[in-house]
Amino acid sequence: MSYHKAATPKFPHILHGGDYNPEQWLNYPDVLSEDIRLMKLANINCVSLGIFAWAHLEPEKDKFSFEWLDKIIDRLYENGIHVILATPSGSRPHWLADEYPEVLRVNEGGQRALYGNRHNHCYTSPAYRERVRIINTKLAERYASHPAVILWHISNEYGGDCHCELCQQVFRDWLKSKYGSLDVLNHAWWSNFWSHTYTSWEQIHSPTGLGESAIHGLDLDWKRFVTHQTIDFMKTEISAVRSVEPSVPVTANLMGIYNYFLDYYALGKELDVVSWDSYPEWHLPNRNFEVARNESLSHDMMRSVKQRSFLLMECTPSTTNWRSISKLKKPGMHELAVMNAIAHGADSALYFQLRQSRGSAEKFHSAVISHTGTENTRVFREVAELGKKLSALSEKIYGSSTDSDVAIIFDTENKWAMDKCQGPRNAGLDYFGIIQSCYDYFWRNGINTDIVDSTYDLSKYRLVIAPMLYMFRAGIQEKLRRFVADGGILVTTAFSGVVNDTDLCFLGEATEEKLSDVTGMWVEETDSLYDGENNSMVWNGKSYWLRELCELVHPTGCEVLAEYDSDFYKGTPAMTVNRFGKGRAYHICSIADTGLYSDLFAEISAELGLEKAIDADIPDNVSASYRNGDGEKLVFLQNYADSSAEIKIRGEYTDMLTGETLRDVITLPGLSAKIVSEV
Ligand code: GLA
Ligand code: ZN
Repeated sequence: MSYHKAATPKFPHILHGGDYNPEQWLNYPDVLSEDIRLMKLANINCVSLGIFAWAHLEPEKDKFSFEWLDKIIDRLYENGIHVILATPSGSRPHWLADEYPEVLRVNEGGQRALYGNRHNHCYTSPAYRERVRIINTKLAERYASHPAVILWHISNEYGGDCHCELCQQVFRDWLKSKYGSLDVLNHAWWSNFWSHTYTSWEQIHSPTGLGESAIHGLDLDWKRFVTHQTIDFMKTEISAVRSVEPSVPVTANLMGIYNYFLDYYALGKELDVVSWDSYPEWHLPNRNFEVARNESLSHDMMRSVKQRSFLLMECTPSTTNWRSISKLKKPGMHELAVMNAIAHGADSALYFQLRQSRGSAEKFHSAVISHTGTENTRVFREVAELGKKLSALSEKIYGSSTDSDVAIIFDTENKWAMDKCQGPRNAGLDYFGIIQSCYDYFWRNGINTDIVDSTYDLSKYRLVIAPMLYMFRAGIQEKLRRFVADGGILVTTAFSGVVNDTDLCFLGEATEEKLSDVTGMWVEETDSLYDGENNSMVWNGKSYWLRELCELVHPTGCEVLAEYDSDFYKGTPAMTVNRFGKGRAYHICSIADTGLYSDLFAEISAELGLEKAIDADIPDNVSASYRNGDGEKLVFLQNYADSSAEIKIRGEYTDMLTGETLRDVITLPGLSAKIVSEV
């Protein structure tokens, strides 16, 4: 596969632009024309409109005001600027909360919020759903067929939960249809524990520090329900706009891998295209490269959700205003960060925000057009220059695909379960940390990697890494078993296959439920290490530190690759491999530093002959990745150091922007990217 179906068929180009809030400037009559002049100068081809404009679209209940927006959309379009149109549910007007207090969220302590802020509606409230349906339908009737409108931006950054009575009732109904009877539920949740047996559905209440927080199955199901109910709310939003004009695709802006309050894999299934808002903490002293890796991991996850290119819906042209320190992006950093998103599958560079707001919470968040209101700023010039490059690259890059032989399983439900598991290490089970460590080798070496959850088809991969997969969701064992039997290589680590999907521990010694047939071993005990305490092992003549968890395992057929060096379990297995069917399953019985994962994956990658972005010696602080064009490999080289880097290459490449032929050495100035194609 080389190119995906266009994410934005009405305008199939790399999108450059972002959030534009003209409703804040309606009393400044010259601003619109000036903004359009500046947008054109900045090579902007697309804006996101109306995200927080409900009070201007419907100033009073059922009194709509669209003329201001008509004018803006028409003027933008006349000037070659397309529109991503938002539904405004992320923030509501005063009148709506005054008339329907049920739309305000209730916290886990049972208090209903006062009016204010945003992203805080009850997603169950029938009144909110109805008002959203009405405004979404009106917007779709008026604008869905407008040639400027290329995509729906559904709400904004869904998230959070509501504990109101309406939500409690729907939660109970959801549980009834999931479990059928209280007996089944009590068993699945192990609620006989501490005499917490449920004897009526009405006794079930969302988990809260004030009440029930000891039933782990309740906690997990509540989080699943919150995702389910948010999706249900989102579907009512989507069906309102689709029922008017089904041809306009829909997206919702997500927040990457580190926001796991919602299961984005589940949510993404309802979208035509995934988009997300990326705000990494650039220029942390000596950590830019690590930040870039972690950000790439999020990009890869966002791409993997729908297994296709995604949109970078927001990033800041320079600084955010909400971190403890609002660092500027140094010259070059913005372009580098955008190219990194594109390298990992983005088809856009969209910003928050185009014009900086004058007051309130985000007045110090940077924008393409700053408070100076001119083009005479460094940030403006950098954005304009980037826009020019993106338009030159668009034809080849837009929609090009990323094919991966490697998958790392990151499972949101597993994260939820581990966060609550109480033992073996309440001081920290670093799930994100181990995912990052496992990802590191592939990222540095330009080997495409998907980040998927347990529900995905694994059969197309050759290497599957399932770090700390504590919870085996139903069906994953069979999927992994078949994957290995068919010739795949599986890598698991300590704290794998401990519980089922309601957080009940698996019983027995070596069992298929625990995948012991595939790994050729089983775990009897797990030791927990203090912070700073280590064990170690030697593998292939090299010594590796082990931390946090050490499993004491019984081999039942596996080969022992390394043993613990110390403690009372010295000499017992620390790393194993088992041949199963046509494949192999490695198990690292502890948590290691990145070096062990990298050395293991280097050996496996060489054996499998996994494709790399480029045949080159990649120096420190440089990363490489690629997308597949039409029979052409589009390679992104990125230097995250302040000083220049030299990459020794074998073969010939063409600089996609200058057309220059590159041989032997490619020089990358500090904080810069180069996009080359293989000749
Ligand atoms: C989020 C929101 C935007 C804006 C930015 C600021 O991503 O979606 O509305 O608040 O953060 O960084
Ligand atoms: Zn509610």
